Amino acid sequence: MIERRTVLKTGAALTGALGGAGLLIPATSSPARATDLDPTSIPQFQQAMPVPEVLRPKSVSTTTSYYEMTMKEADAEIVPGHLTRVNTFNGAFPGPVIKAVSGRRVVVKQTNELGVSTSVHLHGAHVPDSSDGSPMDLIAPGGGTKTYTYPNTQPHANLWFHDHAHHQESETVYRGLAATYLLTDLVEQTLDLPSGAYDVPIALRDAQLDADAQLVYTMGDYAHRTVIMANGKAWPYFEVAARKYRFRLFNTANMRFFKLQLSDGSSFQQIGSDGGLLEKPIDVTSVAITPGERADIVIDFSRYAPGTQLILANASPMLPGDPADQVGRVLQFRVTRTATDTSRVPATLRKLPALGTATVNRSFVLSMDETGATGDAFINGKSFDMDRIDTEIEYGATEIWTVTNANVYTPHNFHMHLVQFRVLERDGQPVTSGPESGLKDTVPIMPGHTVKLQATFTGYEGTYVYHCHMFDHADMGMMANFRVSKTPRPSNRPPRTRGTR
Ligand code: C2O
Ligand code: CU
Ligand code: CU
Repeated sequence: MIERRTVLKTGAALTGALGGAGLLIPATSSPARATDLDPTSIPQFQQAMPVPEVLRPKSVSTTTSYYEMTMKEADAEIVPGHLTRVNTFNGAFPGPVIKAVSGRRVVVKQTNELGVSTSVHLHGAHVPDSSDGSPMDLIAPGGGTKTYTYPNTQPHANLWFHDHAHHQESETVYRGLAATYLLTDLVEQTLDLPSGAYDVPIALRDAQLDADAQLVYTMGDYAHRTVIMANGKAWPYFEVAARKYRFRLFNTANMRFFKLQLSDGSSFQQIGSDGGLLEKPIDVTSVAITPGERADIVIDFSRYAPGTQLILANASPMLPGDPADQVGRVLQFRVTRTATDTSRVPATLRKLPALGTATVNRSFVLSMDETGATGDAFINGKSFDMDRIDTEIEYGATEIWTVTNANVYTPHNFHMHLVQFRVLERDGQPVTSGPESGLKDTVPIMPGHTVKLQATFTGYEGTYVYHCHMFDHADMGMMANFRVSKTPRPSNRPPRTRGTR
């Protein structure tokens, strides 16, 4: 059996290999190091979970709302009684919320007052590559600016901002550079879903804190990130009325997979995923999100008497010895009062766009060095090179991408920029219902497993990335470029084949 310290020394890859999912590998436990803040000493359910503030535009025109955001360091009270230095948008941790409407443009001027270059990516958004926050399109530290334009030509979706500067985004995002962007449209607005104070975005993540409650970043070392945060607080509580609430859950962690359930095991509804609402709500007792993914859920607290407390628990498998009282808990709901509730979750939420007929099939293999010798990670055997176009796509094409995780221990997930895709199959089984039946931009792929995705590459020509969204893995090289063009170079275009659907 490998001793954890040795594992850490042999490199980031193997600790990555043990996985954000914390597969049940017969490995060692991960006790907090002496220099860490002991997570068991952090009082739980003592701080209220804040709801991130909605950012007001600086100005508006008939077509466009103009915002300004400044990336800068700030102090946040993650743990009661301690201040932690974090990266923020506008000093807020997590960052503020931009509320956008389909068909109405949003322009954001970003100023970078951090000490590192950044690139602001709006995850899940359909945007021109000049505003995609690509890994090579950097904003200089110390006051550099860039103005991003978001046309919002896609339907409603829960999107989020994060840094994407290559070889740095993993640490920069870990240190806090994330914010929320809620895009709505008439389809969503016409439904009477819980709204206003009953519609709450929650950004989930983990962290390792040192004895002074400062963030410790070690690439690939998810195992020591045992402090779980919701909206920037370690194990907060959230007071609710005995009625329905909509929670928009964002996994903003670098590596950790969350599988969320209520501590009484009762069911709730999942109504949406990455690219907006599902066609129909589904009754679930848990919802799983890997880094980058979103889940939109409705919990009806009317079945609880005021005074009831319950925990939103994390049931994702952990390393043996992982502290279940820490990583197994997220936040506490406190039912404090009754309230009227005219909201409803209708049996039909939306109609998904037609799937289209695919004309191109491609295969992608995700892998990383699981021996820990190099810490390198690959897509189709290649580490990311920002100057190399890996996949040439004809503008307007509908393609099927078969993505396989070739590792033995290491979970991955797969994210594509520009598009919302559909999950056609998992390991040969068609996906026709359930949480992956909606529009997706990020999907988990456990070791040895395969997913088949379908996307239509339209709207913009340009160069975009696809990558594992476990940020540490993307930083290790598990990322590649695709270029959408009306005149694609034939060189690496596969022969046209008939789609399977
Ligand atoms: Cu959240 Cu390149 O992605
Ligand atoms: Cu993205
Ligand atoms: Cu990965």
